[in-house]
Amino acid sequence: MFRKTFRKSPSALVAGLVSTGMAFCLISATSSAQDAGFEPSVDDFSCIRDMEPVRGFFVTNLLGDIEATLEVANSEIGGTYPTGSLIQLVPTEAMIKREPGYNPQTNDWEFFELDVSNGETHIRVRGSDEVVNQFGGNCLECHARAEPQWDMVCEQDHGCDPLPLTPAMLSAIQKTDPRCEATELTEEEAQALQFLAAIRAASEN
Ligand code: HEC
Repeated sequence: MFRKTFRKSPSALVAGLVSTGMAFCLISATSSAQDAGFEPSVDDFSCIRDMEPVRGFFVTNLLGDIEATLEVANSEIGGTYPTGSLIQLVPTEAMIKREPGYNPQTNDWEFFELDVSNGETHIRVRGSDEVVNQFGGNCLECHARAEPQWDMVCEQDHGCDPLPLTPAMLSAIQKTDPRCEATELTEEEAQALQFLAAIRAASEN
C-alpha cells in the first residue's frame, strides 16, 4: 500500500503516514478509555443542538470518534455504533453506547431519562432494562423492536412502535432545549408546542 502511495507522490506518502499514525492514536485512546472503564456522567450532556444533526436526531461520540459514529448513523445498511456514541432525539432522552460487555440485552446501550427544565442537566434515571420515558414507556421494550441491523435505533421505519410526536413537535422540542441559546420557532412549531402543553395540562388534571 505504501509503495503504491509513494509512486503517486511523496506528499501522499506523508499524508498516508500521518493518517495511519492518527488511526493508531485513536485506537489506543479508545482502548485505554475502555480499559479504564467508560462511565458517562451528567457533564457529558449539554445543548442538544450542539451535537451533529443526522436526519431528525443528533449524535456525538464521548470518546472522540465522531467519524465512526457518523459512519454508522449515515449507513444505508445499518451497523453497530462504536463505544462512546451518544444519540438524542429530544433533550430529555438519551442512549449512550457503553463498553463491550456492558449489557448484551441492550446491545451495550445505556438509556437515560434526563431533566433539563432549569437549564441544567440532571439524570432522573439511567440503566438498561428499567428506564421508562415521560409517557411511561420502557425504552428497551420499544428500541429492541428495531430490526437487528439498526442496533436499536428506531427512526420512523426500523420496526419500533411510533412515538406520539409529529415532526413539527420534535423540531419545536429540539429548538426549545432550555440549555441552548434561544432560537426562532416557525408558526407550525409554535402551534405544535401549544398543542403539547395543552395535552400535558389535560393529563395532569
Ligand atoms: C413507544 C416506543 C418508545 C419508547 C417507550 C421509547 N422510544 Fe425512543 N424512540 C422511539 C421511536 C419510534 C423513535 C424514532 C422517532 C422518530 O424519529 O420520529 C425513537 C427515537 C429515539 C432516539 C433517537 C434515535 C432513534 O432510535 O431513532 C433516542 C436516543 C431515544 N429514542 C431514546 C429513548 C429513551 C432513552 C427512552 C426511554 C427513556 C425511549 N427512547 C423510549 C420509540 C420509543
